[in-house]
Parts: sequence; C-alpha cells; structure tokens
Amino acid sequence: MRDKILGELYKNKENYISGELLAADLGVSRTAVWKHINILKEQGYNIETAPGKGYRLLEMEDKLLPGEIENILSNKVIGKQIIYFDSIDSTNGYAKKKIDQLKDGTVILAERQTAGRGRRGRGWVSPEGTGIWMSIVLKPDIPPREGIKMTQIAVAAVCKSIRELTKLDALIKWPNDIVINGKKVCGILTEMAGELNKINYIVIGIGINVNVKDFPEEIKKHASSLFIEGNKKIDRKILLVDILKKFENLYGAYMRNLNLNETLSIVRNYSAILGKNIRIIQGKSVKMAGAVDINDDGLLLVETENGSRELISSGEISIRGEKGYI
Ligand code: BTN
Repeated sequence: MRDKILGELYKNKENYISGELLAADLGVSRTAVWKHINILKEQGYNIETAPGKGYRLLEMEDKLLPGEIENILSNKVIGKQIIYFDSIDSTNGYAKKKIDQLKDGTVILAERQTAGRGRRGRGWVSPEGTGIWMSIVLKPDIPPREGIKMTQIAVAAVCKSIRELTKLDALIKWPNDIVINGKKVCGILTEMAGELNKINYIVIGIGINVNVKDFPEEIKKHASSLFIEGNKKIDRKILLVDILKKFENLYGAYMRNLNLNETLSIVRNYSAILGKNIRIIQGKSVKMAGAVDINDDGLLLVETENGSRELISSGEISIRGEKGYI
C-alpha cells in the first residue's frame, strides 16, 4: 500500500493530491493514508502536508537514505539490513568492529568517510554526498580460497551497472578496480577472516567515485569519476539499488549451485587487461607478463617473459600503454 501511495505522489510530483482522492483511488481510509504518509516521512521522503490541499512530494535531498533504498530494493539477502551514516571513519572498519552483530548481506553506507581505507595500506578519498562508499557483509559457508570469487562478483555487479546506467565504457582491471579511459573510478577492498576450512566473514568495501568533481593533486592523474567521464550527474540511489540487485543475483547463483558463469563472463568480457602486457606488483616482487585469461576460479592466468604460465591470485596490476605502465 505504501508503495502505491508513493507511486501516486511521484506521478503528481511537486503538486498536491488530496488525502480523500488518494484514499478513494486506493480503496483505503483517509486515516490509513495519513498513517502511511507519516511512515514515508520518517523514512526520509520530503512530503508536505497542507490543510485543505493534501499531500505533495517535494524534491528530495541527494542522500542515500536507507528507508528509501529498502523501499525500492526487493532483495532477499543483500541490503535487507542497511546501516547508514552521515559520516564515519570507514564503513569497512565499522563492519569489522560490529561483525558479530551483523547478518549475511548487511550493507553499511556512508555519505562521507573521514578515514576511508584503500588497498596496500593507502587511504581512500571519500567526500560527502558524491560517491557510493559502502561495505557489504557476507557470511557464506565456504572455504577461504573461494573468497576471491566474492570480489569478482562485486566488481562484475558494479561494472555492469555502471555500463548499463551511464553507457560509459567501464572496464575491470583485475582483480578489483574499475577504470574508464584508463582512470580509476571504483576500487574494492575485500577483508576477510576465517579458519583453515571456513570463512567467518567477508567485508567487501566498495568505493565508487560517482559525482566527485575534483581530486587531490596527488591522485588526479589516475583517478576519475562517472561525472567527470560522462559530464553528467548520476543519481546515486538508482546506481546503488541496481548494483545491489545485480550483486544479489550473482551471489545467489553462486551460493545456490556454485555457479559463477555469469560473473566470469562479465569479468572476461569487460576486462581492461586480457590480451595486454601488464606489470604485477606482489609485495616487493614486480614482474612483467602477458594477461592471458581469468580462470573459472577467478584467478588471473599470465604468461611471463620466459614463456611459462602461472596463476595469480592477488596483486597490483598496471597496464603497459604507449607512455609506459598506467
Ligand atoms: C582500493 O584501494 O582500490 C580500494 C578502495 C576501497 C574503498 C572503499 S570505500 C567503502 C569501503 N570503506 C573503506 O574504508 N574502504 C572501502
């Protein structure tokens, strides 16, 4: 019922619609309409009530309010529980601190992070209201070596959503970056804890530069946003909901019958590195290789300079371009 009321308000956006008309159209009492409207207001909808005129939905703040997201998201697991912060140090940090209280599929969202974390101990610039800074908590009953597949599911969901919603040529820089025109627009930090045979939890931290307009000097060369690349502001809510839906489908397919096919076809199709010469940094070791394939476990198959083939499970990749490695 609440969805229907919201639908009517959307149709008449910025204009009043009387409680009487709403009640008659939807076949409920005016009191029921009033109760639902109050709940919608609590969920963050900007609904104005004017005596004698009725209700009208006004332009909403560009915020990732959980009530709104839960309303349009029909997922069974991913995002069923959403925890939202205007500001937090790091959504991954929060998820790890509270992990015992969080269910499989919980999503932590923040408008800004004051100490966003990146891979290899770096930071992640997370300015207010311009990105999607979130962590997805997973508690699957799988062995730790399967963890990389969860990251591949996340990067596939994000890449496909960005491509579909923005029409930009977003590509995946294995294992977990998304680049457009060679610049990074999304990074993923997966943190995991477990025992030998069992994962206790996985926190997938996803940072997407959506409407970020400018970057600090030191990262400008390599970082970009959907806004900068497409010259158009993107509705973060729509993108977020689409990503969570895609994630649920890909994760669900994997958990039900260990089927990673769709994820693999996305990561192979939209790979920024397959067929290219790359540089792989793993700790202190640096090696050059050709990127050959992503195997069925989500690992990268490379051919090194001496012609031998090996599987890579993690590392920092750069691609050899005309002006060196980027
Ligand atoms: C990278 O270095 O590429 C990974 C960046 C991951 C950033 C995201 S933003 C949401 C989540 N919380 C964090 O502190 N980091 C991740």
